Amino acid sequence: MRRKLAAGNWKMNGLSGALEELKILSASPAPEETDILVCPPSTLLSRAADLTKRSDVAVGGQDCHPNPSGAHTGDVSAQMLADAGASAVIIGHSERRQDHNEIDKQIQEKARAAVDAGLIAIVCVGESLSEREAGDTLDVIGKQLSGSIPDGVTGETLVVAYEPIWAIGTGKVPTIAQIHEVHDFVRGQLLSRFGIEVGEGVRLLYGGSVKPNNATDIFAVANVDGALVGGASLKAADFRGIIDALGAA
Ligand code: PGA
Repeated sequence: MRRKLAAGNWKMNGLSGALEELKILSASPAPEETDILVCPPSTLLSRAADLTKRSDVAVGGQDCHPNPSGAHTGDVSAQMLADAGASAVIIGHSERRQDHNEIDKQIQEKARAAVDAGLIAIVCVGESLSEREAGDTLDVIGKQLSGSIPDGVTGETLVVAYEPIWAIGTGKVPTIAQIHEVHDFVRGQLLSRFGIEVGEGVRLLYGGSVKPNNATDIFAVANVDGALVGGASLKAADFRGIIDALGAA
């Protein structure tokens, strides 16, 4: 069976003092069958890795360049993230797609680079509000999946996060039926492209306004193996509430 995963995405938040929250978080063990990941800004990554070394908390990056090194001012490679202690990296978050005009092909190259560097690639997909209202959700997700996920991935190297753009940081959460529909669809797409072993092995996260008070309902949905959490991952107590709900699911 798939292990569960609670992944925190700090985005562009966190100065040195934020490591205190990580210290608190890593002081308690993970529930059974549950992995905990925190993706701080890359400025904190190696200190976060040191701090969590002997705990159940792993750390990851929020983006990487497709190349291992070179003349790319301001970018960070997957190898560099791994070298700093990361075990995973978020790829193709909607904020990257929007702020940096990232397209599926680049995201696929980044995911390839992540896997080649020994990282878990957490590939994000999700529709905008206008796409949902137009009834295009599954079409959009299908295209993002086929364009963003490289060949040759496995249940150990790929995680897919479904994050409706309109639910990120807004406090708006899709209905349970809407989450169920998309997660079933994503599972079906993975099964038809990669076959049963990989298709059943890849973990699917829901992301967008997950909080301790809605986590239990979300984690009860079939094919939801965990969450990608933004705002509520910044405070150890909030994130622990979500982790506990996942452990109990
Ligand atoms: P949120 O962000 O939990 O703050 O909505 C989720 C994400 O963007 O990963």
